[in-house]
Amino acid sequence: MKKTLLIIFIIVIVIQFIRPKKNISNEVINDITTVITVPENVQEIIKTSCADCHSNTTEYPWYSEIAPISWYLASHVNDGKNHLNFSEWATYNNNQKEHIIKDLKKELKSRKMPLNSYLWIHKDAVVSAEQYKILLDWVNTLKAE
Ligand code: HEC
Repeated sequence: MKKTLLIIFIIVIVIQFIRPKKNISNEVINDITTVITVPENVQEIIKTSCADCHSNTTEYPWYSEIAPISWYLASHVNDGKNHLNFSEWATYNNNQKEHIIKDLKKELKSRKMPLNSYLWIHKDAVVSAEQYKILLDWVNTLKAE
């Protein structure tokens, strides 16, 4: 029993050295706000509820330092950014934009985003019915050009 605990302890320590790269960048050159005027209230909702997984800057909570939580968060961020990255909007071609706008409408109507696992901890990121409407009204004005 003692030996098993010791082995678990060692594993927990050793995995702490495998640290995923942090998603933090202050570069704004390709940000959506450089090519589209995004209303301030929309920007605020995106920042509070979407940006941690859909931009190049994640605000990391303290426990994000601990493996394997750090790995779990990094995989969500990478996955989220692959689908939609507001910080890279200017790099998308019309086809990609069209696809993303369609996905945005779908996600906002079904209210599947942000991920539930994220909302358990980030209560401030919960999107109200009114905020979903603000986002959707804005997305409806977007054009793939
Ligand atoms: C905790 C991380 C996280 C947050 C916060 C988050 N998302 Fe996502 N998002 C993901 C992940 C992971 C995926 C890809 C997997 C999936 O579709 O579930 C994704 C996928 C998407 C997609 C593409 C869906 C598709 O069908 O391909 C859209 C659009 C999207 N998110 C919009 C949003 C919006 C809008 C917000 C804020 C209201 C938001 N997300 C908040 C992690 C997140």
